[in-house]
Amino acid sequence: MSDARTLAPLGRRRVPVVARREYGAYVVLSIADPDGPAPDPGQFAMLAAATRWGGGADERPFLPRAFSVARRHDDGTLDFLLEDVGPGTERLGELESGDELWLLGPLGRGFAMPRDARRPILVGGGVGIAPLAIWQDRLGAGTTALLGFRDAAHAEGSALLEDPMVATDDGSRGHHGLVTELLATELASDRHAEIYACGPPPMLEAVRALCAGHGVPAQLAMESGMACGFGACFGCVVPTRAGYVRLCVDGPVLEAADLEMVG
Ligand SMILES: Cc1cc2nc3c(=O)[nH]c(=O)nc-3n(C[C@H](O)[C@H](O)[C@H](O)COP(=O)(O)OP(=O)(O)OC[C@H]3O[C@@H](n4cnc5c(N)ncnc54)[C@H](O)[C@@H]3O)c2cc1C
Ligand code: FES
Repeated sequence: MSDARTLAPLGRRRVPVVARREYGAYVVLSIADPDGPAPDPGQFAMLAAATRWGGGADERPFLPRAFSVARRHDDGTLDFLLEDVGPGTERLGELESGDELWLLGPLGRGFAMPRDARRPILVGGGVGIAPLAIWQDRLGAGTTALLGFRDAAHAEGSALLEDPMVATDDGSRGHHGLVTELLATELASDRHAEIYACGPPPMLEAVRALCAGHGVPAQLAMESGMACGFGACFGCVVPTRAGYVRLCVDGPVLEAADLEMVG
């Protein structure tokens, strides 16, 4: 992971949505943030809609939600990839151009460059492809990207990356099977690689175990429930070999070798 400590929160900013696009099962929200600090790939932001965010009958979603920065454009526009899994993502996903939201970030520690001139390989699962898009922007369009999805509707999200190899659980697009099978094939022919992965915990655990078995370093962008995003609530702690760490300030990118297992 990057050595850079997270920036102290500068206060949340009220920023406008400038575009909303659908990619199959996902929504990409573009937000104008020209005055905000440029995020490092792998960093995230806490987002909340400026209106209708709690205070209703059941007070949900109320707390902001964490989202990886998927891309930063030259004019400071930030893209976020959303999958509707609950009240927060549902509300954010219905925002349109001109609507406003609160953004706090960039937060956390992002990816570090490959060591020893290793070949970077990006491995993403589902909405976890988001931080890999901005990382591929930085590393170069030729960077190998292996992306796994449930089905063809979700695989439409693969358009965020350049020339990816795609796997789907149901075989409706690309390789029929798990994205880690594509990774195993890559590692069988090239161990001088460094793996950058983001996805659901079982996928990350499979990546961790595969890389450990091949002696290949890996950086994992992880998730946990986050209430504040900047180290105050301890709601996001995860176990490492060195003890518990707060994922929002010590991650979300962690060295796979520092973890006994994921999940
Ligand atoms: C660093 C980080 C980056 C993230 N990036 C993205 C992103 O780019 N795009 C995106 O769509 N989502 C991302 N997430 C996940 C997103 O923050 C959660 O899914 C969010 O809580 C959903 O809010 P909700 O109100 O829609 O659903 P909730 O009601 O909060 O949750 C719906 C369901 O998902 C489960 N859940 C919630 N949060 C998590 C989590 N972090 N890990 C595992 N299960 C969870 C809940 O237990 C519940 O079952 C990220 C999370 C983190 C920590
Ligand atoms: S989310 Fe509050 S300490 Fe990490």
